[in-house]
Amino acid sequence: MDSNTSIGIFDSGIGGLTVANAILHELPNERIIYFGDTAHLPYGDKSASAIQYYAKNITNFLSSKNCKVIVIACNTASAVAYDLLQKIVPKDVFVINVIDPVVEYIINKGYKKVGVIGTIGTIGSNIYKIKIKEQNAKIKVKQLATPLLASMIETGFINGQISQLIIEDYLLKPEIQDIDTLVLGCTHYPLIKKEIEDYYKQQNLQVDVLATNEIVGAYVKQYMISEGIIRYEKSEEEHQFFVSDYTETFAQTTRMFYGKDIKLEEARIFD
Ligand code: DGL
Repeated sequence: MDSNTSIGIFDSGIGGLTVANAILHELPNERIIYFGDTAHLPYGDKSASAIQYYAKNITNFLSSKNCKVIVIACNTASAVAYDLLQKIVPKDVFVINVIDPVVEYIINKGYKKVGVIGTIGTIGSNIYKIKIKEQNAKIKVKQLATPLLASMIETGFINGQISQLIIEDYLLKPEIQDIDTLVLGCTHYPLIKKEIEDYYKQQNLQVDVLATNEIVGAYVKQYMISEGIIRYEKSEEEHQFFVSDYTETFAQTTRMFYGKDIKLEEARIFD
């Protein structure tokens, strides 16, 4: 695949923009094509077969736009659709999920007691537990589904009393105590990283809260360098952002995730 083609990135909605941002921070010459499946948001409580169907359609759409790499910027879809997507892409297209880079990071850093929060789908799949234990069975992995967090963030309830109460309520749960690191196992959560860190500080607990989007950004860069597919000159083309269902409210929320205004285009790929 020509290294001057784009990086395709997708999520159920806009959470994956935290990953897109981190990738562009690492690889400013690249051009991205983003797809937010807003018609089917949230993925967190959907069945694996529904998510596989959505992910397959989106991946075909991104492949048709000549993407050299497709990043599944969603933990839920990474958990249930990664193997399938690897099989359906053209041979010269690379698929990257957001879970393997974080597992690799945890192993390299030597954490011993890992906490994971994520959607019902991600936690129910036990994917982090399985992949971490495959590498080192001695690492303890505790997990908690935190389904309210993604909708709370999508609706803009961050950095306030409501978010503080919800975060506290979840992090006080017995399932997620006695950990040395916390994995933000949903691409929405980097937006509340600071609030989570503040909570642990107040409790006088030493827990490293992982900036999972940045870990993925750094991984994508290394991966693309090793495959020899990065751009050495800045792309002249604008990034493109697609959604499967356009609404004005949604357009406003994108600013919060991406840090600047975005022109969203509607692509009705499921009709
Ligand atoms: N951002 C998605 C993830 O990383 C989940 C949000 C949703 O439930 O759609 O799992």
